[in-house]
Amino acid sequence: MAQPRILILGAPGAGKGTQSANITDEFDVDHITTGDALRANKDMDISEMDTEYDTPREYMDQGELVPDEVVNAIVDEALNQANGFVLDGYPRNLEQAEELQDMTDLDVVLYLDVGEDELIHRLTGRRMDPETGDIYHVEYNPPEDPEVEERLEQRDDDTEETVKERLRVFRDNTEPVIEYYEDEGVLERVEGEQAPDDVWEDVKATIEDAA
Ligand code: AP5
Repeated sequence: MAQPRILILGAPGAGKGTQSANITDEFDVDHITTGDALRANKDMDISEMDTEYDTPREYMDQGELVPDEVVNAIVDEALNQANGFVLDGYPRNLEQAEELQDMTDLDVVLYLDVGEDELIHRLTGRRMDPETGDIYHVEYNPPEDPEVEERLEQRDDDTEETVKERLRVFRDNTEPVIEYYEDEGVLERVEGEQAPDDVWEDVKATIEDAA
């Protein structure tokens, strides 16, 4: 197939960012991530839209979804510019899934399946390198270079309280999206509680099988 169009679904902390980095390296596609796009525009003025808050920051720091109108526009523009992609963080509710259907076809829909206790452990231990964007974990994947270790930062929404709210939002809004793709018969479930390299082996094989 030409450059694949891949959707990666999973709860917060399931490993979507980690596996998307592998996918972009291996398959030479763009990484379209609504989370990163919104973090880069947290203080964007959205007051002219009919929204409760004036910037994405208020929604994100509480673990709530940013309004569809904002997110749909980001994804539509990114998809128009992409030549093959892995889409991560969208769709997060059924309305977004319907929008996506009008924007593009998909070659593979992956779901990284991870239990809730593990998700909390992964997110509260996650650290990001602000210079490279690389993702680490204090226990599972600490950096080898002490200079990198020193500059690592925790995401504002990775505190235990906000993580629990994000998981509730996932159960209420995004689990129906997973059921939707399952009912369509296109959902490829990957066991996400394996070691990162083993998850990657399964993800890669699933994409290659779809080719
Ligand atoms: P977003 O940035 O999309 O966050 P998320 O979906 O909550 O996902 P994460 O980035 O937290 O987790 P991940 O699955 O990428 O895990 P990672 O690979 O880092 O969204 C943030 C916010 O933006 C939302 O709350 C919302 O407000 C807003 N937003 C975004 N999209 C939106 C939309 N469509 N509509 C409305 N609002 C939207 O891994 C996690 C940790 O585990 C890391 O430390 C990693 O090293 C470790 N790890 C990964 N894999 C493994 C493994 N196999 N074994 C052990 N450790 C592992």
